[in-house]
Amino acid sequence: MNITIIGAGYVGLVVATCFADVGNEVVCHDLDDDKIARLSRGEVPIHEPNLAPVVTRNRLAGRLRFTTSDALAIGHAGIIFLAVGTPPEGDGSADIDHVLAAARSIGRLMERPLLIVNKSTVPVGTADQVRATVAAALAGRGVDIPFDVVSNPEFLKEGMALQDFMKPDRIIVGAESAHALGVMRQLYAPFSRNHEKFVAMGTRSAELTKYAANAMLATRISFMNELAHLAGQLGADIEAVRLGIGADPRIGRQFLSAGIGYGGSCLPKDVRALIRIAARHGQHLRILRATQEVNDAQQHLLFERLASYFNGASALRGRSIALWGLAFKPDTDDMRDAPSLVLIRALLAAGATVRAYDPVASGQARRLLVAEHGEARCAASVLFASSAQEAVEQADVLVLVTEWQEFRSPDFRYLASTLRAKAVFDGRNIYDRAVLDAAGLYYEGIGRTD
Ligand code: UGA
Repeated sequence: MNITIIGAGYVGLVVATCFADVGNEVVCHDLDDDKIARLSRGEVPIHEPNLAPVVTRNRLAGRLRFTTSDALAIGHAGIIFLAVGTPPEGDGSADIDHVLAAARSIGRLMERPLLIVNKSTVPVGTADQVRATVAAALAGRGVDIPFDVVSNPEFLKEGMALQDFMKPDRIIVGAESAHALGVMRQLYAPFSRNHEKFVAMGTRSAELTKYAANAMLATRISFMNELAHLAGQLGADIEAVRLGIGADPRIGRQFLSAGIGYGGSCLPKDVRALIRIAARHGQHLRILRATQEVNDAQQHLLFERLASYFNGASALRGRSIALWGLAFKPDTDDMRDAPSLVLIRALLAAGATVRAYDPVASGQARRLLVAEHGEARCAASVLFASSAQEAVEQADVLVLVTEWQEFRSPDFRYLASTLRAKAVFDGRNIYDRAVLDAAGLYYEGIGRTD
C-alpha cells in the first residue's frame, strides 16, 4: 500500500520505518527542512536502538522517502497518518494546532478518497475536529471527496519502539465505518496475523484508551512509590513486596518498580492532559491527582536523602555528587521531564557540584542545563564525564539515577576507594545492600531494608 506519515518525530519515524519494512511504499513528511535533509542522507536524529539500520535498509530499497512537500506527501497515498506533535499548553492540555493544520492541508490538497489516521496523542473528540476541518477545507474548494477519520493511538516505548511496533500487544483502532476498519485490518495484518490483537471501537473510545493506558501505568508507579515509603518505615522491603504481588496474574510483574518517579515525554504529559480533559467536563480525577502529587514528591526524594545524609541541605554546599544516568530511562537520550533534572537543579541551588555520566544523554542534558543556568554557571557546577569512572573520581557520593545496563555491576571496591563519603544512593533499586556492605559502602535504596 502507499502510505504517508505526516510528522517525522519519534512516533512518525518509527511508524513510517516499520510500515516500509513490511513492504509498503512510505513517504514521511515534516516541516523541518533540516530534519528531512538529514533523514534523506541517512542520518537518524533520535537515539533508538536498531532504528538507524532499518531506516537505511528501507531508504536504500526506495520504500521510505522523506519530504517537506505537502503536495507530494498528500498526493502519494490513500492512507495518511497524522503523527505530529501535541505539546502541552500552559494548563497541561494537549495542543492540537499541528494536527488541525495538517488536516487543513489535507483538505486543501486531496484529490482522491482518503483514510486519515490519527496517531498523535490527542484529546477525546479530536477525530471529530479533524473530520470537520477536512470537510470545511473541501467545502471551501467546492468539491466533495469522500474520506474517513480513524483514531489509532500508538503504544510504543522509547528504547523498545521497533519491537513494540512490530510485535504489538494490541492494535487499537477507533473507526466509524466498516470500510475504514477493513483497510486498517489489512494494513496491520503483517503485525497481527490472527487479528486477535486488533481491538476495534469508536474514535472517542480509542482516544480515551491512549490516556487511560498511560494514566494507569503512572498510577501503578506512584502506588509503588508511596508503598515504598511505608515499607521503609515498617522495616519491610519494597522489592520483596513487588515480587510477592507481581506473581498474582491479576496484578502482573511489570511497572511495579519503585524509583525516583516517572518521567519522559508521555506519562507526565498524559496524566496532566487527562486531568484537564476531565476538569473541562466538570470531573475531578482524584486518583490521578494523587498519582501526580506522589510523583512530584518522589522526584525530590533523592535530594532529600542526600540532604539528610549530610545533616541538612546547607551541608551540601561544596559537596561533589556523582550521578550515573541522566536520561529519563535507559536506552534513550530523551531528557524530557527526566527526574535527573529535578535532582540537579536542587543540588545546584544548594551549592553542590555535580559530576554526571550518561552513555548517550549528556549532550541533551547539557543543552537544557545551559539554557536554564547559563554557560558559565553550568561549566562551573556540572561536569559531564566521559565515563562512569570519571564521574565518581573525587566525588563524595554516587547517585544511581538511570538504570543503564553498564551501571549494573560496577567495581564496588573501587567505588569505596574513590568516593570520599563512601556512600551510594540507588534511585532504581538495582544494587544489593549485602554486596555494598561487604565493599565498605553505605547504601540507600528506595523503600528497602534488605
Ligand atoms: C510510555 C508507555 O509505557 C508506552 O506504552 C506509551 O506508548 C508511551 O509512554 C507513549 O505514550 O508514547 P515511555 O514514556 O517510553 O512509554 O516510557 P516507560 O517505559 O513507560 O517509562 C516511563 C517512566 O516510568 C520512566 O521514567 C520509568 O523510569 C518509569 N518507571 C517505569 C518506573 O518508575 N517504574 C516502573 O516500574 C516502570
